[in-house]
This record gives sequence, C-alpha cells and structure tokens, in this order.
Amino acid sequence: MATIYNMYCKVLILVVNCLYLVNCATPPHIVFIAADDLGWNDVGFRNPQMITPNIDKLAREGVILNSSYVQPVCSPTRNCFMTGYYPFHTGLQNGVIRPSEPHCVPLKYTFLPQKLKELGYSTHAIGKWHVGFCNVNCTPTYRGFDSFSGYYTGAEDYFDHTRDYLGEMGYDFRHDFERNSTVDVEDKGRYSAHVFADKAMKIIRTHDASKPLYLYLPFQSVHEPLQVPIEYENMYRNIHNLKRRTFCGMTSALDEAIGNITQALLDSGLMDNLLLIFTTDNGGPVENAANNLPLRGGKHTLWEGGTKGAGFIYSTNLLKKTSYIQTGMMHAVDWYPTLVTLAGGTPDTSMDGVSQWEMLRTGTSPSARTEFIYNIEQISNNSAIRVGDYKLIVGDAGKPDGWTPLPTDSNPVIPQCTDPYGSCTDDKLYFKASNKIQLFNISSDPTEHFDISKQHPDIVARLKARLDYYTASAVPPFNNTPNPKSNPKYFDGNWSPGWC
Ligand SMILES: *[C@@H]1O[C@H](CO)[C@@H](O)[C@H](O)[C@H]1NC(C)=O
Ligand SMILES: *[C@@H]1O[C@H](CO)[C@@H](O)[C@H](O)[C@H]1NC(C)=O
Ligand SMILES: *[C@@H]1O[C@H](CO)[C@@H](O)[C@H](O)[C@H]1NC(C)=O
Ligand SMILES: *[C@@H]1O[C@H](CO)[C@@H](O)[C@H](O)[C@H]1NC(C)=O
Ligand SMILES: *[C@@H]1O[C@H](CO)[C@@H](O)[C@H](O)[C@H]1NC(C)=O
Repeated sequence: MATIYNMYCKVLILVVNCLYLVNCATPPHIVFIAADDLGWNDVGFRNPQMITPNIDKLAREGVILNSSYVQPVCSPTRNCFMTGYYPFHTGLQNGVIRPSEPHCVPLKYTFLPQKLKELGYSTHAIGKWHVGFCNVNCTPTYRGFDSFSGYYTGAEDYFDHTRDYLGEMGYDFRHDFERNSTVDVEDKGRYSAHVFADKAMKIIRTHDASKPLYLYLPFQSVHEPLQVPIEYENMYRNIHNLKRRTFCGMTSALDEAIGNITQALLDSGLMDNLLLIFTTDNGGPVENAANNLPLRGGKHTLWEGGTKGAGFIYSTNLLKKTSYIQTGMMHAVDWYPTLVTLAGGTPDTSMDGVSQWEMLRTGTSPSARTEFIYNIEQISNNSAIRVGDYKLIVGDAGKPDGWTPLPTDSNPVIPQCTDPYGSCTDDKLYFKASNKIQLFNISSDPTEHFDISKQHPDIVARLKARLDYYTASAVPPFNNTPNPKSNPKYFDGNWSPGWC
C-alpha cells in the first residue's frame, strides 16, 4: 500500500503541485451519485419549480457539467461507468438488460471498483445495479465491491422492493433487494431514498479515513413507478398535475437524502479530501413526468434530451476553479479513466473513455475529447455521432420527439406504454427503421431546431466516415430473448442469480 500512496503523491506533485491537496498521504475519497431518469430540467439550479436545495448548493459551489453526455437508457450508461467502454463495444447497444435476460456486462471487463481496489480503495455500492445478475459472478461483490445493498433489476416498488414482470413473463410481484448476494427483507416497507441514505451514512460513519473510500450510490430515485411519501408530494401543492407533483416530490426526497449524506461526509471529515460526482443515467422520460427543456426529446432517444445528462462535481480541496459552468465535452465512458487518474493509477489507453481530470481540476484546460458516439443501435440501425460542433443522426432519433413542456392539467403526461415499470418491451415504440440523415450544429443550436444536412453535405460526409469507422468495431448486440429459468419462483420468490 505504501508504494501506491508514494506513487500517488509523486504523480500528484508533478501534476497538481500538491497545492490543492490537504492530505498527500491518501488519495481522495470518491462519492459517485447516480440519479435515475432525472431530466435536464428537473434540478433546482436550472428550474425554479424544483425544490432541491442540497443539490443546488453543491452544484453552485462546485462545477456544473453542461456538456456531459450519457446513453439514452439505464444499463448502457451504467456499463459506461463500470467499464469505460461504449455499449456498442460490450454488446449493450440495444437497450436495457431486462430482468429475464440471461447476460450481464461481459466478465472480461475489469469494473471500476475492481481497479480502485487495486489502488487501495474500500469500495461500496448502494442502490440499483442493472448491469446483469443472472450468474453470481455478475453481481456487485464479485465485481469489485466490498459490499452491496440494493436491487439487481432496473425498476421496482419503492416501498416493497418487489419487481413484477407480468407483461413479458407472467411473473407476479417478486422481491428484489439484497445485501451482498443474499436476500434482505429488513427494509421492506421503507422508501428506498431513506434506506439508501441510511446505509450510505452508516458506511461513511464507520469508514477508516486512512483508507480511501469509493462509494457508488446509484439511487432508485426518480425512476418510475411514481411513488413518494406524501410529505414530499405536499411540498408541491402549487403543481396540480398529480404525476408531475409526485415526480417533483421524489426529486426532493432524493435531494434530502443527498443533504443527509453530505452532512455525514462533513461530520466524518471525509469531505476534506473528496470528490463528489452527481449525474443522471439518461435524459428524463417525459412519459413519466420528467422534463428536459429546452432540449429536444427524452429518455430512450438519441436527441439531446435523451443524452445530455444533468450533473455536477463538488470538492472542497481538489478543484482549482469552482462555481462555474463547465462546457467541455465529456461522455459517461470518461468517468472510469478520470477517477483512476484521480486515484493515482494509470488508465488503460485502449479504452473508449479518456481522463478528463485535467479539465475538471483546472477549469481552464480543454476537454480531452473532440468527438463521441451517442449510440450505434443495431435493431433498426439508428446511430448518432458528435464531432466538434456537429451532430449527425443516421436513421431515426427516436420517440418522444419535440420539446415537451412542463406537465400541467391542461397539458397532461402522455404515457408511452402501460407497464407501470416502464419496461415497454416493444422497441418499435421508441425507434423505427429510417433512411433519414440529420445534421445539427450543437454549438449554435443546442436544442436541435435546424437540420442543416442539406446545406452541408461535406460535413455530413465527414461525420458519416467517422461513424462508419466506429461502427466497423461494433460487437454483435446481446440476444435479448428472455429466459424462463430466471423466474423467481425457482428462488423462493426472489430475483436471484443462478440461471446463466
Ligand atoms: C458483505 O457485507 C458485509 C457488511 O454487511 C461486509 O462486512 C462483507 O465483507 C461483505 N462482503 C462480502 C464479499 O461478503
Ligand atoms: C434525513 O435526515 C433527517 C433527520 O435525521 C430524517 O428525518 C430524514 O428522514 C432523512 N431523509 C432521508 C431521505 O434519508
Ligand atoms: C440493420 O443492420 C443489419 C446489419 O447490417 C442488418 O442485418 C439488418 O437487417 C438491419 N436492420 C434493419 C431494420 O434495417
Ligand atoms: C456552428 O456553430 C459555430 C458556433 O456558433 C460556428 O462557429 C460555426 O460557423 C457553425 N457552423 C456552421 C456550418 O454554421
Ligand atoms: C448549457 O446548455 C444549455 C442547453 O444546451 C444551453 O442552452 C446553455 O447555453 C449552456 N450553457 C453554457 C454556459 O454554455
């Protein structure tokens, strides 16, 4: 361990000049908070309708990320956080891992917590997993986490911690909440934002501060089903639309959880040498009352509303410049190499992600990337790429399209499918095959109002060549056929590994 810390210090003395480090003996603690399905316009630092004082304070005293891209849906983004590779390189390009799909992010990838453990970190995950669980080797404590508390699937009841799967497989409501890889029923009946905050605070309070901590907090909030204790809903009596009122209440419960966790970090002293990251996993699902204004589209789509993530970073000691809006281009795959760099390690340069630590640390260095892939989807072959100012969409960008306004009674939320867990099984709901080519200048037109493809065939050709280059390296997508062996009835009514 000593050599790792020494190495860390040498690297930092070179790179950081040690000036911004309070404690050179230990690499910084890292708290990575992922909100689920939170829209661009669902945070108080953008939208005065939202009551999120804790998030707003951290964002305003930290660095607001204004160009930090994620994948259009959950599992692919979490795949990026964990591996540093785009989903089209790991087989997850065609959407989420549904509960009965017999695969996980391939085991050949070293997950970020495994890498951080090598660098001396204690690693804990609390919340939603959703990168596969059919084999015990796919589960968190076999992929680098010292402990895990939470659920494996993509959505469930916030109080019961059960997940049904009636639509596809005819399964009834089944339990999905585990501690490490064993079933945990202790918290049945408690709202997940409270459960996860309490568990996070317990880890923070009992952590031996001489060891660096990596705490991964993928909250259930604010994914559907739309559920929240009434006191949070009542904070929004001014909002008459019930779905939006509930959604906003859920966001405030998340905010309160973050406030409690922040207080525990301060009380424990961990905050003195820590980087806190907050990001959504994808754009807001407007069909569930989330909102992405002024951006176009929402969750599931290749539009900016589906892929430009709400997020910020915060630190009391590691950032040279704070309280500003960072517009440098980032992608979810960048967190892995960025955090490995921060932890004193050397990121693997063959990865899709690149370290953005220089940009984030200084606030003046440029982004380490000039282009990224939004996705290369391979059912109906819809893809998008960004190069510099420009974004090329080949095929259909997906539904919902347009600039969905904030829900009101006269402008209600329009659901896309009737499954209460939003796992619409029919991808045709979101995408269709299309020969369309669209080009947007995201620098001058971030809301995608003006397709300039006809005026600039040269730019189209240039971006298409880059997209083709990436597409040539795509691996075949996973077969999404559900496996009936997943049925919780074989596992005492619990979603469990052991069927692939
Ligand atoms: C599981 O959880 C406990 C804390 O509840 C922890 O002490 C233990 O080391 C964990 N890890 C594994 C791999 O069992
Ligand atoms: C935050 O802490 C307060 C005070 O202990 C508690 O009443 C509240 O339920 C906590 N909120 C969450 C979301 O954990
Ligand atoms: C998508 O591309 C693949 C590979 O080129 C092809 O086999 C498939 O038919 C295409 N799908 C559609 C809907 O065009
Ligand atoms: C795209 O926008 C940038 C920034 O506003 C501008 O410099 C550039 O000229 C624009 N490109 C075109 C083709 O209009
Ligand atoms: C941040 O992004 C939004 C939405 O794309 C854009 O309207 C705004 O101008 C950006 N802010 C800065 C400082 O670039």
